[in-house]
Amino acid sequence: MTTMQNVDQRNWVGKLTTAERLGRYRAASAAGIIPYFRAAGSLLGPVVEMEGRDRLMLGSPNYLGLASHPEVIAGAKAAVDTYGTSLTGSRILNGTTVLHEQFEEELADWLQVESALVFTTGYQTNIGTISALVGPGDTVVSDSYAHASMLDGAGLSRAKLRGFRHNRMDLFEDSMERASRDGGRILVILDGLYSMEGDLPPLDEMLPICEKYGAAVMLDEAHSIGVLGERGTGAAELFGVEDKIDIRMGAMSKALAGVGGFIAGSKDLTDYLRVHARAFVFTTVGVPAAIGASLAAVRVRRTPEGQELAARLQRNARYFRDELTGLGLRLGPDGETLERTSPIIPVHIGDDTLAMRWWRELYDRGVFTGVALHPGVPLDGAILRISPMALHERGQLDQALEVFAEVQKVMSV
Ligand SMILES: Cc1ncc(COP(=O)(O)O)c(C=O)c1O
Repeated sequence: MTTMQNVDQRNWVGKLTTAERLGRYRAASAAGIIPYFRAAGSLLGPVVEMEGRDRLMLGSPNYLGLASHPEVIAGAKAAVDTYGTSLTGSRILNGTTVLHEQFEEELADWLQVESALVFTTGYQTNIGTISALVGPGDTVVSDSYAHASMLDGAGLSRAKLRGFRHNRMDLFEDSMERASRDGGRILVILDGLYSMEGDLPPLDEMLPICEKYGAAVMLDEAHSIGVLGERGTGAAELFGVEDKIDIRMGAMSKALAGVGGFIAGSKDLTDYLRVHARAFVFTTVGVPAAIGASLAAVRVRRTPEGQELAARLQRNARYFRDELTGLGLRLGPDGETLERTSPIIPVHIGDDTLAMRWWRELYDRGVFTGVALHPGVPLDGAILRISPMALHERGQLDQALEVFAEVQKVMSV
């Protein structure tokens, strides 16, 4: 006898086996070209052992190389020695330590804000913050390339979402004009450094428009923290607009060599989030090792050694970008107008399968790159996402460039 429950059960299983994206994933896996879930077997440095051989790591946001820095490793170990492996509870209950308080104080000092608040991950920071700050009746205005976690936060908030095409100022102004007619509060969400395209928002043009419409601005500095600006605090510093950004968000999972996220701003903002952000209140705090590592990473970044690492990152990225341009590959914009080089170099391939084939040819020759496929990027907008680290030697970059030239020949026949 078929019950209603059995029918539902069958439909449910059907969804799992017929989902289009899963089918493409399985087909690419069977063809051996899937770039995802490749297991590393060694420390995250300029070279990483993966699947039985060394690969030049050009696909990691370990921009400054701090994930393998002795002082950062020592910071993580000291945190484990003092606090153990896990705090087993939310920040609001038993999950706050003296280490968190120290880290938050140092972040606030570094970013020159009143207060900072650390969350378990960057993703949770964004969904928790946005969904706590706006709600039904309000409007979120978002660049179409804003990170998924910010868009998910907007979805969770049930505010109206008005997107505009990436960095298109005419469309931004249009969205703001419409948002002002929606009648509620307006929150503008932007990335400080776009994680796939590697370009920056023109904050100098955007902020006066935000001001004109009375909008609050949230800037996600996940990829720019530690990397952009003289002090290394991100795009807001680079543009000299720190006092015009209401909510500065950063992730500890990239240049800061740990895992977690933070909000930096006024004390009123962080206190409000302490008791309203559900993704802060109802989750276990990150492991002590992550906080210890990121605190040590911030300290290294604030020394002359940290300055030099940031300068080396710029030099490496500039060199690699120029050489790839010389090969005739199609690269995205690089924020050149800011006299700064983005550490993220997108090579535009277009078709998803072609991008995976490129990835595989590079990987077989000992070079690992990131790959962004649809729906992570627009349809037929597949890219190889390349990010050299500060620690790469010129010889290693040249070796990778030779591989690129070789693969380019293979792919054009
Ligand atoms: C721009 C941006 N924001 C937020 C996040 C989320 O941070 P996390 O990985 O720490 O959760 C990421 C990356 O993962 C990101 O690229």
